[in-house]
Amino acid sequence: MNGARLPAAVLNTLILAVLFLIAATRVSSATGTEGREPPTYVGSEACKTCHPEEYDSFVAYAKKAKSFSSIERLRRSLSEEEIGKCYACHTTGYGKPGGFVSLEQTPHLKDSGCEVCHGPGGDHLEKQDAATIKGGLTKKDCEVCHISERVRAFRYKPLIHGGAH
Ligand code: HEC
Ligand code: HEC
Ligand code: HEC
Ligand code: HEC
Repeated sequence: MNGARLPAAVLNTLILAVLFLIAATRVSSATGTEGREPPTYVGSEACKTCHPEEYDSFVAYAKKAKSFSSIERLRRSLSEEEIGKCYACHTTGYGKPGGFVSLEQTPHLKDSGCEVCHGPGGDHLEKQDAATIKGGLTKKDCEVCHISERVRAFRYKPLIHGGAH
């Protein structure tokens, strides 16, 4: 008798769980916080007017500011698939919402710019305050790209400003 009832109870629980999930999804997209679009990438040029010192020094000294040309240099010896893998580190926001897609569609994001460290700047451009952009960076923010195989002598404190401005 119990054996016959059990599957029905399980089924009921499952139906409830599914209904709950549907409701939860609706609520979160209606509140506008969870469902909100993530900030989009705007490119380093867009930071220039308000942060001219960081911009000028970045463009003049950081290899990141020319990192797309490193791919170009090796392009002929690589397949399209291999080149796609370079984009993750040598461009801005590749594979993320509002990030680099291609040279034709998103030329302003072709190098790895300010936003690879400070995060997408779309919101910050509108609101212009410290809360809308990532500061207080740590080694973790670098290790996404400066992965262990690539690190030759990469130390935290003395180098955290290296490659920036
Ligand atoms: C229209 C002006 C404006 C533009 C454009 C702008 N910013 Fe800012 N930014 C500000 C202001 C204002 C602050 C706050 C300064 C303060 O609080 O002392 C700020 C602060 C910052 C900070 C410090 C955050 C912290 O935690 O202290 C960073 C980093 C930053 N901006 C990066 C960027 C980047 C990267 C871009 C381009 C994607 C950019 N900004 C574009 C106005 C701007
Ligand atoms: C999105 C990937 C990415 C992130 C995140 C990143 N880097 Fe880089 N970095 C690169 C690439 C790519 C190069 C090499 C560019 C080239 O030569 O083509 C580079 C080069 C450098 C260099 C070489 C010297 C120079 O002048 O550019 C230093 C130093 C450096 N990065 C420091 C840092 C630090 C410190 C952080 C974290 C705060 C960081 N990077 C975060 C991708 C990244
Ligand atoms: C995981 C992140 C990552 C990927 C993927 C990546 N790179 Fe890099 N690349 C870097 C970093 C970081 C540096 C800076 C020097 C270092 O750490 O070795 C760099 C340096 C370089 C340099 C040397 C630039 C110089 O001035 O000496 C070249 C060239 C280069 N990458 C080309 C490529 C190509 C081509 C691809 C794709 C096949 C690629 N990279 C994929 C992160 C990456
Ligand atoms: C390689 C990573 C990296 C890149 C790329 C980078 N920054 Fe920074 N930025 C830092 C670090 C590290 C700090 C020090 C403060 C902190 O810990 O966040 C900083 C601080 C700042 C500040 C706060 C004021 C200051 O100097 O302490 C501003 C504004 C800023 N960056 C703007 C920019 C702009 C604009 C660009 C592009 C032109 C840029 N950054 C590119 C790593 C980076």
